[in-house]
Amino acid sequence: MSDINLSNLLDVDRDAGTFRVARRSFTEPQIFEAERAQIFDRCWLYLGHTSELQKKGAFVTRSVGGRNLIFNRDAAGKVHAFLNSCPHRGATVCREPAGNAKNFTCSYHGWVFGADGKMRDLPGIESYSEGFNGSGCADLVEVPRLEQYRDFWFVCFDPAAVALVEYLAGATEYLDLVADQSEAGMEIISGTQEYAIRANWKLLVENSFDGYHALSTHATYFDYLKNMNGVLSQGNVIGFARDLGNGHAVVEYTAPWGRPVANWVPAWGEDRKPEIDTLYQKLVAKHGEERATRIAKHSRNLLIFPNLMIVDVMSLTLRTFFPKAPDYNEVTAWAIGPSEESGWLRKNRLHSFLEFLGPGGFATPDDVEMLEQCQRGYSNAREAGWNDISRGMKKAEPATVDEHQIRVFWQRWNALVQQAQPEQVVEEQVQTKE
Ligand code: FES
Ligand SMILES: [Fe+2]
Repeated sequence: MSDINLSNLLDVDRDAGTFRVARRSFTEPQIFEAERAQIFDRCWLYLGHTSELQKKGAFVTRSVGGRNLIFNRDAAGKVHAFLNSCPHRGATVCREPAGNAKNFTCSYHGWVFGADGKMRDLPGIESYSEGFNGSGCADLVEVPRLEQYRDFWFVCFDPAAVALVEYLAGATEYLDLVADQSEAGMEIISGTQEYAIRANWKLLVENSFDGYHALSTHATYFDYLKNMNGVLSQGNVIGFARDLGNGHAVVEYTAPWGRPVANWVPAWGEDRKPEIDTLYQKLVAKHGEERATRIAKHSRNLLIFPNLMIVDVMSLTLRTFFPKAPDYNEVTAWAIGPSEESGWLRKNRLHSFLEFLGPGGFATPDDVEMLEQCQRGYSNAREAGWNDISRGMKKAEPATVDEHQIRVFWQRWNALVQQAQPEQVVEEQVQTKE
């Protein structure tokens, strides 16, 4: 990495109130490599939710941070994350996306592993030395770190990383606002959305909590809401952006859509109102009026750095994405809701998951088009070298339509990526920090 040029990726002038990002951050292979080493190999990354592993033996396979993993629950009830690569020669051990298994059998030479990852059997065992696997070298390899917060499981490939709860910092308050939407526990609802975007992953981070593009990019959807509900906004409109520490950030606001957790809108019909009122009153009884209002009626777009977005709007979506190349990233999105939810509300939630957030919905195709246009601009107009992220820079209390939350992400990104640089060069870069 000695010839890597990570200089001046941010251009920040507090006095002038400008914040700019170098467009080569989205295109250069060396920056992409620095991100892999400094961010995806070292930060806590979302893996899955407890509800995906209800029964003993349940498993899902998933690609996280460039590794293929098995996320499973063993016969004793313990949750694991294994590298899905056979300790014998490396073949993929589990080739199913999800299921239930007491054992995993590698299809290359037939080594067998228990759900606890221990090697159980291997063909021709009599030909191995006595005490083979005494060191565990023939067991599945566990990821270095696996921890959970309120049923959200994260992995980290850096054994020396801080504990998950410390890493999450102020984001725990916002994960609580998700987890507390249910008394019985939240659950991932089957029907995962998977799609790819020909754009840099950081453009999707920005877009996922960019409160400023919605009325122009998604004008059709807001027209639709106006037609359905008769009004575009309800009650006092609130909205703010917050830095939650360690690169995590959130926008929290009121919006003109209904929320199945407990925010009724006219389009749902008067006959549905009592059910929603009852849900809301239950939240008030448990959490008090102020917190119940936040849980039920406020929307939130939360970034857990670097690549988990929790989009808690007219539906509740967990979205992760991982770059395969500087100009290509793959997205996975799950709907999550209270496990005790009624059939009608569940239907409504899933409808919104498709209708607005889905890859064929009101929002995502338009967003994808915008992101791909931006990415094309970085290579087709190379002399235009900078993106502007200055909106609301001098405000003490930034609103959701400002870009404070996006600056929080970029500052953390820059601080981590700079660590790929040899020390003497890093010292010259201090002026790039906000
Ligand atoms: S590679 Fe898995 S048994 Fe040989
Ligand atoms: Fe959007």
